Amino acid sequence: MTLLVRAAEARDLPAIAELAGHLVRQHHGFDAERFMLIPNAEAGYARFFGGELSNPQTLILAAELDGNIVGYAYARLEPRDWNALLDAHGALHDVYVSERARRQGVARRLVETVREQLQVKGALRLVLHTASKNHAARAFFAALGFRETMIELTSELYKS
Ligand SMILES: CC(C)(COP(=O)(O)OP(=O)(O)OC[C@H]1O[C@@H](n2cnc3c(N)ncnc32)[C@H](O)[C@@H]1OP(=O)(O)O)[C@@H](O)C(=O)NCCC(=O)NCCS
Repeated sequence: MTLLVRAAEARDLPAIAELAGHLVRQHHGFDAERFMLIPNAEAGYARFFGGELSNPQTLILAAELDGNIVGYAYARLEPRDWNALLDAHGALHDVYVSERARRQGVARRLVETVREQLQVKGALRLVLHTASKNHAARAFFAALGFRETMIELTSELYKS
């Protein structure tokens, strides 16, 4: 098994967008009201990530296992957020590994590479959000040394 984590290129976008589509549906499954289901998510992500490839603030990594793309990470330098009392930071927006490639250290390599490369770009910390029902992700990030710092709560207003 050969694992390669590298900067994503335009030719990777269809495979990465397919994985992003799984991430969208997974979150909709956790809580269909809070996590919107994006119609045609794959096409939208391919377009969006295509635009982000040339953004120097952005990192899109592809993970290849034996030549096939099995995972990706999308992270970006974000400015100070006064409302969140959060100084300028690196944000890990997405990390996804296809089911057949899990528990082989793929996401660990992706996140370690995000950490290294965002630090080089000047980030002092890496912050991410994960769904409270996403027990696998919570265990994964805990294993990588992340601490829990914020809990999001939601109340639907159209239901009185
Ligand atoms: C969470 C996810 C990214 C982990 O990817 P992965 O490549 O399987 O993770 P790794 O193999 O690098 O795991 C590293 C360590 O994290 C922990 N871990 C990973 N998955 C875990 C799980 N399902 N349950 C408990 N611990 C887990 C373990 O300590 C693991 O080390 P080990 O296998 O030696 O025990 C993957 O399950 C995934 O893509 N899930 C769907 C997308 C998602 O939820 N993304 C995160 C939210 S944005």
